[in-house]
Amino acid sequence: MEKLFYCSKLDMTIGKICCIGAGYVGGPTCAIIAHNCPSIQVTVVDLSEERIAQWNSDRLPIFEPGLDDIVKGCRGKNLFFSTDVKKEIVEADLIFICVNTPTKNYGVGKGRAADLKYIESAARMIATVSTKSKIVVEKSTVPVKAAESIANILKANVKPGVKYQILSNPEFLAEGTAVKDLLQPDRVLIGGDQTPEGHEAIQALCWVYGHWVSKDRIITMNTWSSELSKLAANAFLAQRISSINAMSAICESTGADVTEVAHAVGMDTRIGNKFLKASVGFGGSCFQKDVLNLVYLCECLNLPEVAEYWQQVININDYQRRRFANKIIESLFNTVTNKNIAIFGFAFKKDTGDTRESAAIYICKYLMDEGAKLHIYDPKVEEKQLITELTHPAISDDPSRVKELVTIHKDPYEAANNTHALVVCTEWDEFINYDYEKIYGSMLKPAFLFDGRIILDHQKLMGLGFNVITIGKRLQRPNVHRPYAQAPAQ
Ligand code: NAI
Repeated sequence: MEKLFYCSKLDMTIGKICCIGAGYVGGPTCAIIAHNCPSIQVTVVDLSEERIAQWNSDRLPIFEPGLDDIVKGCRGKNLFFSTDVKKEIVEADLIFICVNTPTKNYGVGKGRAADLKYIESAARMIATVSTKSKIVVEKSTVPVKAAESIANILKANVKPGVKYQILSNPEFLAEGTAVKDLLQPDRVLIGGDQTPEGHEAIQALCWVYGHWVSKDRIITMNTWSSELSKLAANAFLAQRISSINAMSAICESTGADVTEVAHAVGMDTRIGNKFLKASVGFGGSCFQKDVLNLVYLCECLNLPEVAEYWQQVININDYQRRRFANKIIESLFNTVTNKNIAIFGFAFKKDTGDTRESAAIYICKYLMDEGAKLHIYDPKVEEKQLITELTHPAISDDPSRVKELVTIHKDPYEAANNTHALVVCTEWDEFINYDYEKIYGSMLKPAFLFDGRIILDHQKLMGLGFNVITIGKRLQRPNVHRPYAQAPAQ
């Protein structure tokens, strides 16, 4: 049996890990820790009985390639899922806080600041029940200095003989590739107090990751740098997408092809080729929320120019979604009222069932606002989830209208049958190999296909008879030639 890490300053060994929050981050992260650290007992807790029951069932609450095997391999051995939050906190030596940190939808900072109420309630729970020292690891994405707030809550309620060390260990996994990202991370970031106690806690967490991550990929720093690095990384990634999407609008107006432009730009090693794919816009629970969080931070720090700079990344994303929806409406002879439109893909990206902030939600909203009848198919998104998204008050103020306009299909061919147009909103691989001849045959004519992810073979589709419209590239000869040289004379 492996010798466990002993923290002399807290007088404890790292034998039990508890993770608060059994979501997209907590579940996969802990499964990978349990898989790689057989001598550590890992328990993931959540207030949601439904979520925990799903983690304990054959059908896990989230879809991630490779996750089922890993969970099933360790569950009941050194990986547990429980709703007994108090008991698991009491017994744990190291606690990960992996709760959600959504954008605040009320009060000060509404629409921009991160809502830290779940973080605070987790910290208060730790403070209330703990009877021995612990390392508390903030894994949720938080504003800079959140660790300090956690420390303040813990220290204000500390029991005699109990000591805490707070670490920042932001998670960089991407949904759809979570298992791979966790097994082979680009880097693991650990921030902590620059004191002997802080350094020892950092070493304890390095020891946990050291079971499968090489030392050169584990970087340590001060807590605030670690917290800001996560916001910065997401802001840079979102910025790349908005940059190429902004280019896609120029391409459509000039006849350039955004895929070719991205290829040429990405070959510059200083820029690199990743995350340069134009699309209908980014989604997911993190990019928008984290960039907004950064914008709010800049405003609070009285840096309005910096805030405005990052806000533009969000504005371009909104613009891209709206632009794509407008293109659908314009192409369908300026009206989609009562027209049947098939939507292929509702998840915010392929290989996940997560729909949070998915571009598809907004495309559906804009089309529903115009009275279109939508026929939606997604290979992984549950019907209940899809309806919850579309009936959210920010998307539709009348749930009965959603019921009237939306039909959810379990078969893509059925979804496309008798429709005027087909809109690809998610880049699922299976969409590439469908029988489009059959689909074309079943659609109303002229049949339109809008590829919001640039994944299909457009020439082939046009050969079948489709009118194909995509992002960042003109596929049909415009009726009127509008040379870009029409710009005002110098
Ligand atoms: P999630 O919403 O899937 O899961 C959070 C879970 O925490 C929920 O099941 C909720 O019931 C539970 N919870 C909330 N308060 C609790 C409490 N006091 N006690 C016990 N359970 C509680 O969220 P997700 O996606 O896992 O994100 C968690 C954090 O990780 C967020 O800060 C997010 O920004 C960050 N993150 C998310 C990534 C992603 O791809 N989803 C990637 C990297 C970071």
